[in-house]
Amino acid sequence: MLALVTGGQGFIGSHLCERLIKEGHRVRVLARESSDLANLQDLPLEIVHGDLIGGKELGQALAGIDVVFHLAGALKGFHEADLTRVNRDGTRTLTEACAAHAPNLTRFVLVSSLAAAGPSPGGPVPALEDAQPAPLTWYGKSKLEAEQVVQHSGLPFTILRPPVVFGPRDRDVFSYFKIAKAGVLPIPGWRDRCYSLVFAPDLAEGILRAAAEPKASSEVFNLAGAEVVTWSELGHKISSALGVRGRVLRLPEFAIRAAGRLADVAARLRGKPQIFSSQKVIEMLAPAWVASPGKAQEILGWRSATPLDEALALTVRWYRLNGWL
Ligand SMILES: NC(=O)c1ccc[n+]([C@@H]2O[C@H](COP(=O)([O-])OP(=O)(O)OC[C@H]3O[C@@H](n4cnc5c(N)ncnc54)[C@H](OP(=O)(O)O)[C@@H]3O)[C@@H](O)[C@H]2O)c1
Repeated sequence: MLALVTGGQGFIGSHLCERLIKEGHRVRVLARESSDLANLQDLPLEIVHGDLIGGKELGQALAGIDVVFHLAGALKGFHEADLTRVNRDGTRTLTEACAAHAPNLTRFVLVSSLAAAGPSPGGPVPALEDAQPAPLTWYGKSKLEAEQVVQHSGLPFTILRPPVVFGPRDRDVFSYFKIAKAGVLPIPGWRDRCYSLVFAPDLAEGILRAAAEPKASSEVFNLAGAEVVTWSELGHKISSALGVRGRVLRLPEFAIRAAGRLADVAARLRGKPQIFSSQKVIEMLAPAWVASPGKAQEILGWRSATPLDEALALTVRWYRLNGWL
């Protein structure tokens, strides 16, 4: 197949491109003129420059495409509109371009987020795909609106909702690895919240299966790892992958909220939105972010293949080999 991967140069996108190429597929990546293509070095693929905003070059990017993997998105912004413009409106521009320029399209795969569904009820109880979505943040709302755009596009679609994704090349969860390396494990509040995670190479495998499986058409799947961990368990696992002793430091919720507001001010002064912000704090203080991979197991035959400890060790190894840690 000839696949278009939007955001293929990004963290998850680059894992997907590697996986597609390994399976013998032809890959075209839609990247911006300004995009850093370092994650795609040495991969035999075609780059088409274009932007979801405006979308002028999308016709060229879509010529002859069989499957679109839509991963390009905004994960942070100063205002709600920064996220809506890319995630909702950019998705609409792309789906309209698909209708006009990709007559052979067999599937439009949207990589959404668990943030679109909203938090799980609390403890290890998982969120299921058919629960009423209740996103908490600008990001979550914009991803839910992107899902609705895709559902009403008339295209054959599959929507995937990963939880927190980690692995080689990731810069967001990486911040926690750096803090853990210093021997400190900051935990928000006195309650130990539960989380699902997924390792990027395992997620890439799930994305591929979703595109190929006929029964996945018009469906929504949580692509989450099978292991559920509390924040402190995860911290200790990261410490042990790093070979350091981690000391839990519980931070009161008011202090986390204040830190989020300070981070907003610092980001504005620097002129660049950061992943830690008052919006991120809303997510951090939610009851839990646990998703069941049961539907993906049943219909896609997918489960995350790499045990969490091994995935964290592989991630640390990559950070060290590449001089990040
Ligand atoms: N990381 C996670 O934990 C996580 C969890 C759940 C869901 N997701 C979803 O997974 C997808 C990929 O996330 P990621 O972690 O790989 O993030 P990422 O590394 O930031 O990749 C996102 C990509 O989107 C591109 N992009 C942004 N705005 C664009 C625009 N206007 N036109 C064209 N491309 C644009 C970016 O291009 P540039 O390179 O030019 O900036 C970037 O390469 C996103 O849709 C995200 O919502 C991520």
